[in-house]
Amino acid sequence: MRVVCIGGGPAGLYFSILLKKQDPSHDIVVYERNRPYDTFGWGVVFSDQTLQNLAGADEPSKQDILDAFAHWDDIDVHFKGRTITSGGHGFCGIGRKRLLNILQDRARDLGVRMEFESEIEVDDLTTRFADADLIIASDGLNSKVRSRWADHFKPSIDVRKNKFVWLGTTRMFDAFTFIFKKTEHGWFQVHAYRYDREHSTFIVETREETWRAHGLDKADADETVGFCSDLFAEWLDGHPLLTNMRHLRSSQWISFPRITCETWVKDNVVLMGDAAHTAHFSIGSGTKLALEDAIALAREVEKHPGDVRAALGAYESERKIEVLKIQAAARNSTEWFENVSRYEPLEPEQFVYSMLTRSQRISHENLRLRDRSFVEGMERWFGDRAAGRPQQMPVPPMFAPFHLRGLSLANRVVVSPMATYSAVDGTPNDFHLVHYGARALGGAGLVYTEMTCVSAEGRITPGCPGMYDRAHVAAWKRVVEFVHERSEAKICLQLGHAGPKGSTKVGWEGYDVPLDAGNWPLWGPSPVAWSAENQVPRVMTAADMATVVDQHRQAVQWAVEAGFDMVELHAAHGYLLSAFLTPLTNKRTDAFGGSLENRLRFPLEVFRAMRAVWPVDRPMAVRISAHDWVAGGNTADEAVEIARAFKAAGADLIDVSAGQTSTAAKPVYGRMFQTPFADRVRNEAGIATMAVGNITDFDQVNSILAAGRADLCALARPHLADPNWTQRAAVAQGHAAQWWPKPYLAGKAQAERLTVREVPLQV
Ligand SMILES: Cc1cc2nc3c(=O)[nH]c(=O)nc-3n(C[C@H](O)[C@H](O)[C@H](O)COP(=O)(O)OP(=O)(O)OC[C@H]3O[C@@H](n4cnc5c(N)ncnc54)[C@H](O)[C@@H]3O)c2cc1C
Ligand SMILES: Cc1cc2nc3c(=O)[nH]c(=O)nc-3n(C[C@H](O)[C@H](O)[C@H](O)COP(=O)(O)O)c2cc1C
Repeated sequence: MRVVCIGGGPAGLYFSILLKKQDPSHDIVVYERNRPYDTFGWGVVFSDQTLQNLAGADEPSKQDILDAFAHWDDIDVHFKGRTITSGGHGFCGIGRKRLLNILQDRARDLGVRMEFESEIEVDDLTTRFADADLIIASDGLNSKVRSRWADHFKPSIDVRKNKFVWLGTTRMFDAFTFIFKKTEHGWFQVHAYRYDREHSTFIVETREETWRAHGLDKADADETVGFCSDLFAEWLDGHPLLTNMRHLRSSQWISFPRITCETWVKDNVVLMGDAAHTAHFSIGSGTKLALEDAIALAREVEKHPGDVRAALGAYESERKIEVLKIQAAARNSTEWFENVSRYEPLEPEQFVYSMLTRSQRISHENLRLRDRSFVEGMERWFGDRAAGRPQQMPVPPMFAPFHLRGLSLANRVVVSPMATYSAVDGTPNDFHLVHYGARALGGAGLVYTEMTCVSAEGRITPGCPGMYDRAHVAAWKRVVEFVHERSEAKICLQLGHAGPKGSTKVGWEGYDVPLDAGNWPLWGPSPVAWSAENQVPRVMTAADMATVVDQHRQAVQWAVEAGFDMVELHAAHGYLLSAFLTPLTNKRTDAFGGSLENRLRFPLEVFRAMRAVWPVDRPMAVRISAHDWVAGGNTADEAVEIARAFKAAGADLIDVSAGQTSTAAKPVYGRMFQTPFADRVRNEAGIATMAVGNITDFDQVNSILAAGRADLCALARPHLADPNWTQRAAVAQGHAAQWWPKPYLAGKAQAERLTVREVPLQV
């Protein structure tokens, strides 16, 4: 085969090595525009896992790399005058130049031809290289090949908010070191690590506006180095900062481009490494991805002898998934470092925990495997604060109590509101008693009712319960009394009005589908139907609004009578108040439409009326859709403002959901996919939040809580499958103090015995 690699970075060099090893008769040439000893950057890091992958691919180069590596386990974080260390992270650092030289030597020994100082132009692909069997476009993040056929590869390039500069220093750091330093214009952070006997990498990063405010947009290399040396002098111990960018054309400070491509393959040309995809340096995975791309493609070429196109197709489908996962983790990490000011109010312990778990790939249990004492220290810290006094034992965060006004929850697991569509004329019945009773007995700290409607016309379906008739009060009281008398759980009533999404069939007959017969008229902010099938709502007048305010007020008065511990106003998912909040369905031109302030006016009026009749010592929550997932709709920016407004009106908790406000929504699903919104609302608006959405295991719950991304975690579908979710999670974690109903204690004892015998329960 005749193979051409455009670009002699890690991707091109490593692929040429692996292919030449497979079959020495391949004719492989690597074209590199730089000289062999000329490169940008300083050291790069790999995890121990990446090293293991290299061992399987090419032992000699892996050994040379290993010999040149600096290895360390600890991460040191310097924040607000404290240094906090977490161990067991297993990283290696190597000079980028050293790595390239090792790969160049190995490639040369195997007979790969390398043409340095040789810049390839895209026209060469169709002229000089027209007879090549395979062309590897390993030409880095500014890939000319990708740009030339952009209409085919369909790249998306998202230039991020921070500016960074990749410097070196002779100061030897003992650990992977993160330094956070605040100036009068904002935060700067350093990512520093040793990579050989004399040098450490020293990457300085800050928000673009902070960078401009310091005049760094006009700084040359010496001024940049001078500024950074002064700013971080106390950590440099008199050592200089070094730059190797002076002789290169590129600017000192860079904005990281997040690159994804719809496809990486065009005929016999394949994008590889940074040309195809980038992963932010803060998770140290760019070189890893480049090398692993090379391993995967070499394997597929071997599996498909004489059929390059089949090999490229198989390569792309195999690698895309792994790359997407790393890029998702890198995105979380990038955004964390772009928003350091959001986490500034956190105490150093929680700040560090939040930083370590920022990519959502490292969880609580994962951290425990790395450094048990660090995690136990965090659990103590969390438990002490939750209890308001020092605790004897570290306890997983989900079992720490939580207090809001006069309400005390035994733990932080919540049964999320879920419609059961089982009421008749709005009256809850035995099904509700058993359903909510079972979940209260199952150990969650707080059980939510499903959306309970403030009027018959405000129901979603004929099966939805209400709080608009005296009969409803008595029926709910029976449920509440059971929960209070027979369990340690508290119970929250979710109140709402369906608005434009009302008068539909029960869930299992089709979501949001109008009734076949007996539909009732709908109300909404504007004449915007949920879908072409649904009714166009009547535009609410001032009198209609006053009616809805009264209905909410009355429902809350009855909630007091029924004995509920908490009330939540449902202002999410496209129902009436949500329809006012989002510009997608609120097209009003009066004081209730237009600006966010106007769109908030009616929902706030409703909330204030409720708060006024709800006891002062009992908390109130508001559920919001923190993102519409539609261009032109609400985003997390508005969610923070909405949360601030409800907080000012007396809300104690924001229940942070997302979407379901438009049929055009394109949600980005994934594990814990709405939690970043709970994090943002909590830490920017300064109000307690509840995270919800695809939170399925206790490890996720503990990580979310310990990191301060939310104060409570709501699980919906997991509680339909298992009312005893909390008790099983307690058993799996060895948390014997979890409350169980007395009649079930024999089951608790057996479950604990089985777990000790290492038959772990799957939770
Ligand atoms: C500040 C910073 C820190 C980083 N830290 C880490 C880290 O700790 N760990 C990690 O794994 N990764 C890290 N990376 C990422 C890593 O550097 C890249 O992901 C990796 O180098 C990608 O390898 P590559 O072979 O795809 O591209 P590159 O290494 O960019 O190589 C591309 C090569 O192609 C050459 N080239 C381009 N166009 C042409 C042309 N037309 N003709 C000839 N030659 C051409 C270039 O000169 C270059 O040598 C970091 C990146 C940055 C910016
Ligand atoms: C059957 C069902 C009914 C639901 N009904 C409601 C509801 O009445 N009120 C509400 O705010 N959310 C409702 N939701 C949304 C859930 O509270 C939750 O936000 C969503 O299911 C995501 O959480 P999960 O991934 O843990 O299931 C419902 C979800 C399900 C599955």
